[in-house]
Amino acid sequence: MLNQLQRDILRLKKEKNAIILAHNYQRREIQEIADFKGDSLELCVEASRIEGKDIVVFCGVDFMAETAYILNPDKKILIPDRGAECPMAHMLSAEDVRMARKRYPDAAVVLYVNTLAEAKAEADILCTSANAVRVVESLDEDLVLFGPDRNLAWYVQQHTDKTVIPIPEEGHCYVHKMFTAGDVMAAREKYPEAELLIHPECDPEVQELADHILSTGGMLRRVLESDGESFIIGTEVDMSTRISLESDKRTIPLLEEAICENMKLHTLEKVKNSLINEEFVVTVPDEIARRARRAVERMIEVSK
Ligand code: 13P
Ligand code: SF4
Repeated sequence: MLNQLQRDILRLKKEKNAIILAHNYQRREIQEIADFKGDSLELCVEASRIEGKDIVVFCGVDFMAETAYILNPDKKILIPDRGAECPMAHMLSAEDVRMARKRYPDAAVVLYVNTLAEAKAEADILCTSANAVRVVESLDEDLVLFGPDRNLAWYVQQHTDKTVIPIPEEGHCYVHKMFTAGDVMAAREKYPEAELLIHPECDPEVQELADHILSTGGMLRRVLESDGESFIIGTEVDMSTRISLESDKRTIPLLEEAICENMKLHTLEKVKNSLINEEFVVTVPDEIARRARRAVERMIEVSK
């Protein structure tokens, strides 16, 4: 049963001919009113398909809303809280990428979608945690500059014969860095029958203990397909909320404190204000958007 605020948002959404996209880490009450929920790749693909809408309200972080704009420059892209930035996406600048290219002129540049548009414009192709290995394997080059998440670079290196060089040295997600091997062992002991699903943004010693290493969308699919009845979820806490909207199986967050404060800046009040005032508008300068679009579209093509 939706509350009054949620019903207001649904009415405004219709009046404004808007669509609401939400990442899997959004609060439950936002997930409940979203038209589409997903991981970074699913949101990119969905953004590339939007037709017949004037406004996209993006309940996610800055790089996701920018990507929606890059794929829909004719639409108004709104983010309910302008402060919803992904710290990892700010760890690699366009200049850093240009300098790395100078050092390794024969390397391909693969950037995680968790980058700002200026950096994306310098990439040969983008990737997400759902398709990173496939993207790297699709390249002709044997040397790959990969950033900004060092742990995802490590994961890719375990699954390819190519040489993967992380840029910058220490790019990371502060949420996934919270998990330790000790947390995993304690959870295993407490829930011996549960499957352990871990996100590739986690440290290598945590990944090494996983039953499956998956993007958030991959985690949801695994829970739905598996014969198992309980799952330890090694990613942001609201991934369990997302799964609970689709399945009655038991999910146990690996760490209750693993909260992405940046994602949580969006609230129902802010989503409503966003629709009423048509704020905050996200845009990208034309030339940067044009160059970044090539890298996004190339990734979507490889992921088909
Ligand atoms: P996915 O949802 O693509 O797995 O990514 C997780 C994340 O941290 C997004 O910022
Ligand atoms: Fe960025 Fe990590 Fe939050 Fe994802 S969970 S938005 S990578 S800080």
